[in-house]
Amino acid sequence: MNTFAFNHANEEKFSALLERYPDKSSLMLPSLWMVQYQEGWISLDAMQYVAKKLECSAMEVYSVASFYTMFNLQPIGTYHLQLCKTLSCMLAGSKTLQEHLQERLGIRAGETSKDGKFTLSLVECLGSCGTSPCMRLNDDYIENLTVEKLDALLEELSK
Ligand code: FES
Repeated sequence: MNTFAFNHANEEKFSALLERYPDKSSLMLPSLWMVQYQEGWISLDAMQYVAKKLECSAMEVYSVASFYTMFNLQPIGTYHLQLCKTLSCMLAGSKTLQEHLQERLGIRAGETSKDGKFTLSLVECLGSCGTSPCMRLNDDYIENLTVEKLDALLEELSK
């Protein structure tokens, strides 16, 4: 039995988008975003639900959801730290930041802290190479990162 369904707000948003988009399949990405903002992540149940809404196969939904790293396919912490690991950020010290984060949070990349507060992910270029090293904190960009800046941020978020 499928346990996922859009909440009322998302159901209304979906109906409104249906009027504006040329066909149901065009609503794949907006639907996945709605699931993620509602639940924090996209479960297999939710993918089946989206497939039914869009009249496509669950495999089609899965192939899109698993292609983009911004979609979480497992539960994540309150704060999702997505550290860029691509060239500009790597040359600017992202590896050092990764090691620092892993040590401070007691987790490795891809894991969530025991208190459920922090998830650390390594991602490809965030499109902010000019201000590297760069990291996403949920929907915000933290740029020109340093170990000191990270420490201050973690301090603030841990309160
Ligand atoms: S390489 Fe990190 S933002 Fe582009």
